[in-house]
Amino acid sequence: MQKDQWNYPVTTDNPDAAESLNLSFDSYFQFRTDAMKHLDAAIAADSEFALPHAAKGILLESLKKPELHSLAFSELEAAKNGRPPSSTREQHYIAALEAALAGQVTAAATHYQQIVNDHPHDLFAMRLAQSELFWIGEVGWMRDISERAASQWTSNVPGYSAYLSIRAFGLEENGDYELAEQCGRESVELDPTGCWGAHAIAHVQIMQGRLDDGIAWLSGLSGNWSAANHIVHHLWWHLALAHTEHGDYDAGLEVYDHRLRDLDSPLMLAMPDFYVDIQNDTALLQRLELRGVNIGDRWQPIADLAQTRIGNHFSPFTSAHSALALAAAGRFEEANELIRHIQDFIVEDKGTLGARYALAVLPASKAAVAHRKGEYQRVIDVMLPARRNLWQMGGSHAQRDLFFQLLIDAAMKLQRQDVLIMLLDELSAIGFQHLAERSSYADAVAMTH
Ligand SMILES: [Fe+2]
Repeated sequence: MQKDQWNYPVTTDNPDAAESLNLSFDSYFQFRTDAMKHLDAAIAADSEFALPHAAKGILLESLKKPELHSLAFSELEAAKNGRPPSSTREQHYIAALEAALAGQVTAAATHYQQIVNDHPHDLFAMRLAQSELFWIGEVGWMRDISERAASQWTSNVPGYSAYLSIRAFGLEENGDYELAEQCGRESVELDPTGCWGAHAIAHVQIMQGRLDDGIAWLSGLSGNWSAANHIVHHLWWHLALAHTEHGDYDAGLEVYDHRLRDLDSPLMLAMPDFYVDIQNDTALLQRLELRGVNIGDRWQPIADLAQTRIGNHFSPFTSAHSALALAAAGRFEEANELIRHIQDFIVEDKGTLGARYALAVLPASKAAVAHRKGEYQRVIDVMLPARRNLWQMGGSHAQRDLFFQLLIDAAMKLQRQDVLIMLLDELSAIGFQHLAERSSYADAVAMTH
């Protein structure tokens, strides 16, 4: 029996398999590109070792593409048929994969949480729990998992910097900006290449309206991200967001063209349709257009990607952005097809996501189409009753803000000062500071005075 980097037993006698598993876990929670390569090496070294099979299935499922599910199910079967006896921890990983493939997201998160409860240093499970819960908006639950483990973490535990980054993001999404910044900065000091710690700080800065800080922070660290996976695009999105909120739209578009949608970059060539990229790209273009910026012909390639996700209901947040992109490109027939698929899914689904599509994604998608058609009263009618449920589509406060911007824009077009005052109050309560100094809300704030 081998042990992993945290001295937890793994059911293989092969040291190469155990070491490759360690490297794959490191790669995952450090947001690098080679996690799958190391899992394949672990499987090649010991094909009956259950955990790498389960982990590979989990990574395949995490891409939120149903066309990869048959491969993920094969790994699930291989994990179940692994060499007995598997440990309770390994059984939880296998059960989490099975739950995720069935759309039972909260069940999967519960298995990951159980692993962290029993093995508080297991950052693979902790980060998976964070990811699953983040994408269904359960940020309190997400934070509690990393906070409960805090007493078990010291700087000599492998992965301490990554632990701090996970903790920082959990705190930030729950409004504890001071401790989040402290953890995030310590994480990046320990590992300047760490993307997740840098990202947590970027969130603190955008929530607090510290736009200059955000631009300096991300620009200063960006030279360290050469080994990062697609998270680097999201970090560039944060930089473009800070420029855009500052009113420097040319800088935002410059980042878009050369960093977010650089089709010749190795990352983009390897995976041109990564779901978070679709969110990033749509969100930036839509924000720029709301400020009157001509973004030229940039919508069509994003709408092409959105079109491929019409029948994909594994990522609520991406579906809402797909509706935006299709409508923005003038492809209303496809946007309506997406909405019909969502309505069917809501009726049929027996998992975690159907209710979230009903409460958040469906109204947001309808509002996206209505806004693009200039039907501002319909945006108000659809979104005002749904706005307090938008968290259920997942994503961060900073990302979901886009849907409030649509609502605010409609209220401005209709001269609804009463609605604007209420929504601006609510945005402040969510945690957005200095609204009058953001290009997104400066005009709305001015209208209320
Ligand atoms: Fe972010």
